Amino acid sequence: MMEAIVARQETGALSRPHFSALPPLSLYVHIPWCVRKCPYCDFNSHAAKGEVPETGYVDALFADLEFALPSIWGRRVATVFIGGGTPSLFSAAAIDRLLSGVRARVALAPEAEITLEANPGTFEREKFAGFRAAGVNRLSLGIQSFDAKHLQALGRIHDEREARAAAEAALALFDNVNFDLMYALPRQTVAEAEADAAAAVAFAPPHLSLYHLTIEPNTQFHRRPPPVPDEDSAADIEDAVHARLAAAGYHRYETSAFAQPGRECRHNLNYWQFGDYVGIGAGAHSKLSFADRIVRQVRYKQPKQYLERVAAGAPLMENAEVTRDDIGFEFMLNALRLTDGVPARFFAERTGCPLASIAGELADAEARGLLERDATTIRPTPLGRRFLNDLQLLFLRERESRPRGAPLVRAEPVRDGH
Ligand SMILES: C[S@@+](CC[C@H](N)C(=O)[O-])C[C@H]1O[C@@H](n2cnc3c(N)ncnc32)[C@H](O)[C@@H]1O
Ligand code: SF4
Repeated sequence: MMEAIVARQETGALSRPHFSALPPLSLYVHIPWCVRKCPYCDFNSHAAKGEVPETGYVDALFADLEFALPSIWGRRVATVFIGGGTPSLFSAAAIDRLLSGVRARVALAPEAEITLEANPGTFEREKFAGFRAAGVNRLSLGIQSFDAKHLQALGRIHDEREARAAAEAALALFDNVNFDLMYALPRQTVAEAEADAAAAVAFAPPHLSLYHLTIEPNTQFHRRPPPVPDEDSAADIEDAVHARLAAAGYHRYETSAFAQPGRECRHNLNYWQFGDYVGIGAGAHSKLSFADRIVRQVRYKQPKQYLERVAAGAPLMENAEVTRDDIGFEFMLNALRLTDGVPARFFAERTGCPLASIAGELADAEARGLLERDATTIRPTPLGRRFLNDLQLLFLRERESRPRGAPLVRAEPVRDGH
């Protein structure tokens, strides 16, 4: 059987992916405004000048979803993630209207995980109960740090008192809560980072996302770099906070994601397990499978332009088929971030290509001690997790085989939810 598959491939008979069943589907909704822009942030987020146009924007999201419907006809949506920007800037009534409109247009699984990203300011905290009543069942709080001076250095609009109050309110109202934390902050010591991790686990949130602060191009921190810890100090900080989280019972199931047993983020797992997602809203990304192809789409990024393009019935800024040569790389780019890897059968089920199509790359990665597999699972080794970029790059095919004009494949954003 395997020989037959390889032979068909060589003759080109399998030059396109083939799906007999489509992967699970998630919905991402982007809300692009924040009170002000944080100096380190490269997300598609814009300082709201005055009132955010929530009614007009929710109308545009509905038009956008209707534009997407023919691509996801009849498919059930397993998870929803409302990210930003700062979705908690929207009123509870707007989020209620958004979720009702989503339910009216797509088949949302009855047990769907529905996450909303929230800032810990007082103004947002007062809305948490309303978000819960609207149907949000997971709250992701952008805490960043519980330390007053680090919050200030990060230019956050909330202080440590508000961070604690928001954490308490979120956990009192929601069964499922995530805290976003960052480490290797300007002038941060190992002891301070440990204290931050200890403060977070004292609340016992089911999930923690822990990001190394990166200095991104086109940010204020890039123009005026703050004194962040050097590489060795950052590695010490990382080891210390990871140890704290492990001691408190959190499993590091992905590079930056830690969960209590069984509390992994289903929406993000779907990204990493190479599921499908439809993204609506300014700059949102989609990856969608059809019987014989996988496409990636990106919507117009600037809120004003996005609103105009949706009104014109053309919200897509990019729409490209993933080339067959890129599919294996894209799958591995995501799957190898997972500590426990993925079931081996997911490769064929979610790329529409036989696992034999990357047999050479798999054998190479195994021989280098970066990857291990058996009949049921493909997973990175501890060495492979340490040198994840090198491992992922082994699956990148030579560009010569790329059809002329095909755009370069972009790595998906890897921070929580996006
Ligand atoms: C869209 S934001 C979260 C929601 C909300 N806007 C907030 O900031 O509270 C997603 C998360 O990405 C992380 N993040 C943003 N910029 C980062 C950077 N330059 N380096 C590391 N993590 C970053 C932060 O932890 C942030 O909470
Ligand atoms: S970190 Fe969050 S609040 Fe700050 S600018 Fe980015 S999206 Fe907005």
